[in-house]
Amino acid sequence: MISVQIAKQSFWDIDASGYLFLLDEKLDGLAQIEEHYPNLAAILEKNRFKGKKGQCVELTGERDGTLVQFIFVGLGTQEGTWYDELEYLRRNYACLLQRLKKLKITSAVFAVPDAGIYNIDTPELIKQLTITAHMAFYEFVTFKTDRDEPQNIELHLVTDDAGATQAAALGDIIGRATTHTRHLADLPPNVATPSLMAQEAERIAKEHKLKLTVIEREEALEMGMGGFCAVDAGSDQDGKFLVLEYNAAKGAPTIAVVGKGVTFDSGGLSLKPAANMKGMKYDMSGAAATLSILSVVGQLKPNVNVVGVMPCVENLPSGSSSKQDEIVTFLNGKTAEIDNTDAEGRLILADALVYAEQNYSPDVMIDLATLTGACVVALGHYFTGLMTRDDKLAETLTQIGHKTGDRNWRLPLHDDFMPGIKSDVADIVNTGKRNYGGQSITAGLFLEQFVEKTPWAHLDIAGTADGVPGINYVGKGASAAGVRLMVEYILSYKA
Ligand code: BES
Ligand code: ZN
Ligand code: ZN
Repeated sequence: MISVQIAKQSFWDIDASGYLFLLDEKLDGLAQIEEHYPNLAAILEKNRFKGKKGQCVELTGERDGTLVQFIFVGLGTQEGTWYDELEYLRRNYACLLQRLKKLKITSAVFAVPDAGIYNIDTPELIKQLTITAHMAFYEFVTFKTDRDEPQNIELHLVTDDAGATQAAALGDIIGRATTHTRHLADLPPNVATPSLMAQEAERIAKEHKLKLTVIEREEALEMGMGGFCAVDAGSDQDGKFLVLEYNAAKGAPTIAVVGKGVTFDSGGLSLKPAANMKGMKYDMSGAAATLSILSVVGQLKPNVNVVGVMPCVENLPSGSSSKQDEIVTFLNGKTAEIDNTDAEGRLILADALVYAEQNYSPDVMIDLATLTGACVVALGHYFTGLMTRDDKLAETLTQIGHKTGDRNWRLPLHDDFMPGIKSDVADIVNTGKRNYGGQSITAGLFLEQFVEKTPWAHLDIAGTADGVPGINYVGKGASAAGVRLMVEYILSYKA
């Protein structure tokens, strides 16, 4: 665990065992450090440290007669866009923090850099640094019986900004939320069942005084949630349709967040090949993110209503599972032909979108879903697929993606693809016709059929929710894609 504290005294007055430094390729600021570390320039040169982006060295130095660690990381030339540089800063900073962990250092100091080049103010930067610290320290070790005692690190961020303490507290809540999502998503599918998701929702509801509605499978059937029930049908584990609500003052706008909660996606009767089934415990990442988003909202109490709708099911083949060629009727009366039981996400989300719109008349609706393998092909692991007809909403989400590092890239939701989901026997079909290509887009268009009038965006997190390579503060396993983005979206929402 890392605890971030704001320090108002000067950097060198803080008593710690690790001193952390950022240096660009010009090695700006080195002279100042040399006052406290004689011959530093020469020593760094001997270590071939040139301030190149991501280059990290640790040196042992002395402070008031005790040996301490000095850890340096390079920033490179910092010639990129403000948001790329901000992202590199997160990674370089995480590199410093991870060295602390490796060296088993328990207290460290870091001077908050000038926020100017990152196009954000100092409190925002402090918030980002605090979130990143939590992310950099996350590990999934629950099932390691020989794990080490958890290491506690106290990090002092040096700044004289008046808003610093509040910013760090905010970052702390958001950072913990990313850890919570990652933990849930990393849990194995025998543990993270729909029932566990319901328990977790209950815990959050109790802790933060939110309203929880759990719709059980029988009730969902009676209500006419044919999509949810079709996917749920194959499993011995009962599906849970979860609705978590935060209510602000009367008259506040309402944001609906809808998260795909397939706790394991085997494909159903259209069974996935073994290699593709690996990792399908992560198919509930949208719901896991939604739970944490509501928990943040419950703690921060913004002046917007937020409702999280999480259809949670297992997609398994069995004697009771739904079949190809089946036709299901959704909550709004529309019908779809099941061409492939592995395209299950859109079936449960269809009912969830209708439920959210009918019951809450939200001002805006955003879904988070590990929806299509095609999105991983198209965009890889660094950008969530963003689909919406609303240019303003797209722009807002893109900008927030830049600021938070929870990035997205827009794909077209265009009518030209619509014939790709037309069915001969029902209103629509749950797979896009091959000759239309664009499987992420046809999936998005399928979802759109279940949104009547609410401004809506679909975030396909299939590539970003887990298995992101090469980002040190994200590391292995789940990434909490969508949490930083949606929390910021909610907190900065203007009607
Ligand atoms: N959960 C998968 C999508 C997925 C694939 C997420 C790979 C993460 C990594 C989804 O339910 C699915 O299986 N989609 C199918 C749809 C197809 C049958 C039209 C896909 O993308 O192959
Ligand atoms: Zn599937
Ligand atoms: Zn799925």
